[in-house]
Amino acid sequence: MGRPARVEPFARRIVDWQRAHGRRDLPWQGQRDPYRVWLSEIMLQQTQVATVREYYVRFLQVFPDVQALAAAPLDDVLALWSGLGYYSRARNLHRCARAVVELHGGRFPASSDALAQLPGIGKSTAAAIAAFCHGERAAILDGNVKRVLARHLGFDADLAQSGPQRALWVKAQALLPESDAMAAYTQGLMDLGATACTRNAPRCGACPVANGCEARKTGRTALIPAPRPRKALPEKSVTWLLLRSRGRLLMEKRPAPGLWGGLWVFPEAPGRDVRGHCRRSFGCEIASRTPLAPLEHGFTHFRLHIRPLLCHVAQKPFPSAPGRQWFAVDEAAAAAVPAPVRKLVLSLAK
Ligand code: ADE
Repeated sequence: MGRPARVEPFARRIVDWQRAHGRRDLPWQGQRDPYRVWLSEIMLQQTQVATVREYYVRFLQVFPDVQALAAAPLDDVLALWSGLGYYSRARNLHRCARAVVELHGGRFPASSDALAQLPGIGKSTAAAIAAFCHGERAAILDGNVKRVLARHLGFDADLAQSGPQRALWVKAQALLPESDAMAAYTQGLMDLGATACTRNAPRCGACPVANGCEARKTGRTALIPAPRPRKALPEKSVTWLLLRSRGRLLMEKRPAPGLWGGLWVFPEAPGRDVRGHCRRSFGCEIASRTPLAPLEHGFTHFRLHIRPLLCHVAQKPFPSAPGRQWFAVDEAAAAAVPAPVRKLVLSLAK
C-alpha cells in the first residue's frame, strides 16, 4: 500500500494560497508602517475594501503620519471620514493618534497586547497590526475570519455567546503558522473570507483548505456560523429643517458620543409648529417652505426616514454660535457631515 499523500497543514495552505491567489494590490499592502496599517485596519472595520480605498488614499494625503493626525482638530478628521460611517471609529482614531504621540513618543507600540490598550483597537485589530508589521504570532478573529474558522472546524456553537467566542480564539491561536509567514497567513484568512468562504454561496472549489473543511464535508456551510435571526429593524421618522439664508445653510453639531457625534447635521423640527420653532430657536422668520424628496438611512439598530423641509429665511437670523453654524453650500459639502446630509447639500448646490 502506498503512503497517503502528505496533507499540508492548514496554515501552510493558507499562506501558499494567499501568495498565489490572494489580494496583493491594495493600497495599504507592501509596506509595514504601523500608522498606515493601523489606519487601514480601522477603516476596514465594518466597511468594504472598495469603499475604503479612496478614503484611505485621501486621508494619507492630508495626514501622512501620526503626528499630523494628532495635531489636527477633530473636525478635520471627521470631515475626511464623512460618508464612511461608524464615526466613533474616527473619534477613537484621533484619540489613539494623540495617545501614540503623548504616551509612546510618536511610535506605535509593537506588541498586540500593548496595541490593544489604545483607543479603538480591539483584540483582533491589534493582532492584525502586529502580524502585518512585526510578524507577531497573534490570531485575528474578525467577522469574516470567524466564519472561515468556524466552518473549517465544524464549530457550530453560538458565536454571540462569550464561551464559544473564547473557545474559537483558542482554536484560532492553535492554527497559526510556526514560521515567519504571519503577514501572508493573516491576509490569507481575510482574503479567503472575503472572496471564497463568503456567507452565501461559498466557492469551495476555490478554497485551499476545502478538503479538511468540516462544514463542507457535512453539508453545513449554510448553517455555520448559525444565521443570525433577522429582527425587523425599528423605524424612526424625522423632519430636517434646511434653513437657507442668502445661500447659507444652518447646521448644528451633534454631541459626542452619540449618533453622528461630532458631525454637523440639519436641525430637527420638534413638532408641527415649524415657524414658531424657527422664530424661538433660530431668531428667523420662514418666508416659504418646500418639502424635498424623502431619504432613508440605515443604522445598525434602526432605519431613519428623513423628511427634508427646505425653508427660506426672510429675515436676518441669529448668527453662528458654538455648535451652530451657517455654512455656505460648498463649505457644507466639504464639512464633517453624514452621508444623507451631504446628499441633500449636493442636491441644493445644483
Ligand atoms: N479587512 C480587514 N483588514 C483587511 C485587510 N488588511 N485587507 C483586506 N481586507 C481587510
